[in-house]
Amino acid sequence: MDRPYLDLGPCGPLRGVLRVPGDKSVTHRGLMLLALSQGEGRLFYPLKAGDTLSTARVLRALGAEILEEKGPEGARLAREEGPHFRVRGRGLRLKEPEDVLDCGNAGTLMRLILGILSGQEGLFAVLTGDASLRRRPMGRVVEPLRAMGASIDGREGGKKAPLAVRGRGLKGVSYTLPVPSAQVKSALLLAGLFAEGVTEVVEPVPTRDHTERLFRHFGLPLEAEGPRIRTRRAEPFPAKDLTVPGDFSSAAFFLGAALVTPGSEVTVEGVGLNPTRTGLLEVLKAMGADLEWQVLEGEGGEPVGYVRARYSPLKGVSVDPALIPLLVDEVPILAAAAAWAEGETYIPGLSELRVKESDRVQAIAHNLRALGVAVEEGSDWLRIGGGGVRPGEVEPFHDHRIAMAFAVAGLPVGVRVWEPHWAEISYPGFFGDLLRLCAAS
Ligand code: S3P
Repeated sequence: MDRPYLDLGPCGPLRGVLRVPGDKSVTHRGLMLLALSQGEGRLFYPLKAGDTLSTARVLRALGAEILEEKGPEGARLAREEGPHFRVRGRGLRLKEPEDVLDCGNAGTLMRLILGILSGQEGLFAVLTGDASLRRRPMGRVVEPLRAMGASIDGREGGKKAPLAVRGRGLKGVSYTLPVPSAQVKSALLLAGLFAEGVTEVVEPVPTRDHTERLFRHFGLPLEAEGPRIRTRRAEPFPAKDLTVPGDFSSAAFFLGAALVTPGSEVTVEGVGLNPTRTGLLEVLKAMGADLEWQVLEGEGGEPVGYVRARYSPLKGVSVDPALIPLLVDEVPILAAAAAWAEGETYIPGLSELRVKESDRVQAIAHNLRALGVAVEEGSDWLRIGGGGVRPGEVEPFHDHRIAMAFAVAGLPVGVRVWEPHWAEISYPGFFGDLLRLCAAS
């Protein structure tokens, strides 16, 4: 069968202002918490893409009513008119689904919903996903949930999906995260809403804190004291509207594209600037990037503002491994920028990238080589020779961020992107936005 591809560029400079789709992490969590709330709430400017539509579908199967309401056309509508999901929640008690719950490609969905389902007494559910999700490690959530009393079984003793869960009475535990993972933290905090006593997650390394911010938004129990985050059993709580900021991880591709394409200047507006997400800005600055950003407002406890990037001659750096959890989804675009830098870039601390939607260490190395860039790959590190790329063909490996990052890497010289539709997992319309900024110059 013929595989689809897209030929892009050479193009540039990129110029203009854009808004990127809503934050994926906040959309997943916003939908879940509204589904657990009492009454009706709206989630404005959500991400409507493969992953979050999977969440809406799963929550509907669990009894939540979720309507997609478009609102009138217009780039900057007042919040109350903007596109939104209208959610009627179940007041903490979900319905037993009639069929297997398909989480598609969405790791966040599978891990977080496991936390919620574990505490739904008596309810039986089976979770599965696509080939990529069925390969990903689930033991990291299943084990601590079992320590809380959850009844979960699955392939390889519960390490891989499909997973079967029978909701039970849970007990709070204190659990120290062995790997930095906001998904594991969030699964346990969500389970903690149904557990007796206190549930404590200790995170030696900070990870994205959207769940904590949203617990506060909805008035759910939450105490954070340094690395210790605690919750306890929730009382039924009322629905509350929420606005989703633009996804910094999506904005990152345009920042990267502007930095490597001579003459470019791109501004992304309305983007989430939560400091647990923006480690990339610090690394790019150290590489010599001309970047400016400012927080202008807050929405649902999330800082929101703009970021502007101008073309910059970049230089290679050695990245501090402590920053990786704060840029974990931006490593592909960082690698793409590093390919255009002068000198070598060393990125350590990448063991978690081996278990993302693809093995991203391998996928990055493959695509850099395909674009003529020297690269060395270790078990948890990459060493990227800079100096620019040559035209070539890139392979997404069924991974949205790999598709977008290497489209950007090759854009200034021309690139063929195989299976470009993978971008739609988190950014429908990505290639259209990229080409619009090129054409605007
Ligand atoms: C996410 C957490 C991160 C990230 C993923 C989204 C979340 O995963 O890579 O894209 O929404 O909590 P890990 O928890 O596996 O690090």
